[in-house]
Formats: sequence, C-alpha cells, structure tokens
Amino acid sequence: MKRVLVATGGGDCPGLNAVIRGIVKRASQEKGWEIIGSRDAYNGLLSDPMELIPLDNKTVSGIHVRGGTIIGTTNKGGPFAYPIKQPDGTWKAVDRSDEMIKRLQELNIEAIISIGGDGSQRISQKLFEKGVNIVGVPKTIDNDLSATDFTFGFQTAVQIATESFDRLVTTAESHHRIMIMEVMGRDAGWIALHTAIAGGAEVCLIPEIPYDIQKVAARLNERFQNGRGFAHVVVAEGAKPKEGTIVARKSDEIGYENVRLGGIALQLSAQLKQVGVQADIRETILGHTQRGGTPIAFDRVLATMFGVKAFEMVLNREYGKMVAYRNNTVVSVSLTEATGKYNHVKPDSYLIHAARGVGICFGD
Ligand code: F6P
Repeated sequence: MKRVLVATGGGDCPGLNAVIRGIVKRASQEKGWEIIGSRDAYNGLLSDPMELIPLDNKTVSGIHVRGGTIIGTTNKGGPFAYPIKQPDGTWKAVDRSDEMIKRLQELNIEAIISIGGDGSQRISQKLFEKGVNIVGVPKTIDNDLSATDFTFGFQTAVQIATESFDRLVTTAESHHRIMIMEVMGRDAGWIALHTAIAGGAEVCLIPEIPYDIQKVAARLNERFQNGRGFAHVVVAEGAKPKEGTIVARKSDEIGYENVRLGGIALQLSAQLKQVGVQADIRETILGHTQRGGTPIAFDRVLATMFGVKAFEMVLNREYGKMVAYRNNTVVSVSLTEATGKYNHVKPDSYLIHAARGVGICFGD
C-alpha cells in the first residue's frame, strides 16, 4: 500500500471537505493507495499518541456539501515553529520538522497533500526543500494567492456577504440610515469589491485604495435630501484612511502569528460623525459567518477539481508544486511561484473600472 497524508491548515474555508473527498475518490480508482488525514493540520502527526484519521469512500461520502473540515485545522504554529510549554509555564516555538519527517518515514508515507493558504504553502515549500514529497492545494476565502485565478471558498464568502448586504437594504431604507458592513479579506479587497458591486453599495473601501474621509462623507451626504434617503458602505477589514493605519491587534493566543484585523467599521462610523455626517449610522461586522456553512456550487466544483488534480499530481510525482485554477482549467505551479507574490486588487483593473462605472466611490 502507498500512503498519502492529507492535512488542512490555516483558517477553515467552505470547500475543504470537497477537496478531501476529491482526493479520496480519485485515489480509490487506483490500486494500492491509502489516504490518511492528520488531525488539525500537522498536529495529529506530531502529537503523542498520533491522531491520524483513515479516509475512504465511506468516510467522505456526502461531505462536499459540509463546511469546515472533517479532519480539523489550526492556524497556530506548524512543524517549524511548534508551540511547546516550558517548565516555567512560558511557551517556546520549537522546530520539530526533523521529527515530523522521521514519523512520515516510519509510517511509510509516500507523499503529503497540504490544503492551506500562503502560510501553509510556505511550510510546504520548506518541507519540500527537506526532501518531503509534497503537493499543495490553495485555500482561502480572501482570494489573495496570485498563482491561482480563484481560491475555493471565496465565492461562497462573497455570496454570504451579498445576502447579508441585501438584508441590510430594507432596514436602511426604512430608517433612512447609512449601513456600514465590514467584511473579511485581510490585506486584499476582493470580498469587499465583489460584494459592493453585487449588492449595489454607494461606497467601497479596500486596502489597495486608502480613503479620504471627506470624499466618503460627500458621497454619502449626496444620498440624503430633506432628511430622507439611505446608503451603504462595504468596508474591507484591512482598509485604511489616507492618513492613518489599519485597525488591528496582536493576538495573545499561543502560536498565533498574524495580527487580528477587525473593527474598521466602528472607526469609520466615528470618523463620518466627526466630519459632520448627520444621518444615523449602523455598523455590521460579518466576521466568521463568511467562512461558515455549506459551500456554493462553484466552490464545490472548484474544490473537487483541486482534490482530483492533487492526487493525480502525486501519481505523476509532481512534487513541490501547487494546484492552481488558471484560464478556466486546473494546472500545477511551483510552490515558490505560489507563495511569491500577494494577490492584491489592482486599482487599474476592469473590476474597479466597472465599480466606478456604476457610481461606487472608493474614497479617493
Ligand atoms: O484568511 C482568512 C481569514 O478569514 C481572514 O479574512 C481573517 O482576517 C482571518 O482569517 C481571521 O482569522 P481567525 O479565524 O484566526 O480569526
């Protein structure tokens, strides 16, 4: 039997289970392959006793419809910086990659399929450099990986955000309010931009275009005449004013490296009041609802294609590479290319042009 270890790492994302199912089902069409999941990214492999989950057609039956990941995930630490509690109660990041590789050999693992975002794929590249046979599958609702046209989970997040936006419209209209809706996306404005266009926002604020609060206020005030009117702002969690910084805080969770974004909606609301906006303002921070629940059909299809391709890359020994969606097909790209460049919204792209074409203000 040849064994493939599957791990899901980083923040979860609708479509992870569809990838796992794609891998397992495609592997079952070949003779002599066994698929094993490692619980909570590589933690399952590194824990004592190990937490490994055998995956077969029965285990994965119907899971493509479910959000989350049946094998669990973590965005804390990893084999190169594994958090270990010291006798004095403090935590230290320890490199356990050699130990992990030894365990892979003892288990007779032929290859790893690592489903994760840029952080996870950077770990994949380091493991590959240490001789591990590894294939990456890109995952993130943020759509911020440049090597692939889309990541699965992104369209689902946009759909959830758009449905929430639509719900805010009727209440905004009834109360003559400005509604500010904050969406995720880290340092990229993809979710905000797509939602603003799909929903029909007056203002969209994204990290790639720092905003001038006076211009935002002017666009919103236009919508209120004789005390009536209503307006919508979609703001990306990573957006920032021209003079100012992002709203972020350091996490005190052990092994959590990223800064935690969130709260720009409240700051923006206060800024609008300061510059004299009279209308009532309400803020909605969508948060993790954008990552939860069932993936939409597009993401199930994309994730399934990624899973099938990932296993076929193992069959062809295409290691050190990541699955990618490009020009309406699925291809493989090197992990270094995959993690080399962040995928920002380009301010001169047609998407921005179209948004401006329907009157959306970016505060610039
Ligand atoms: O990267 C996906 C994402 O949902 C970001 O949009 C968000 O900033 C972050 O993860 C939240 O992470 P956590 O689940 O650790 O709070």
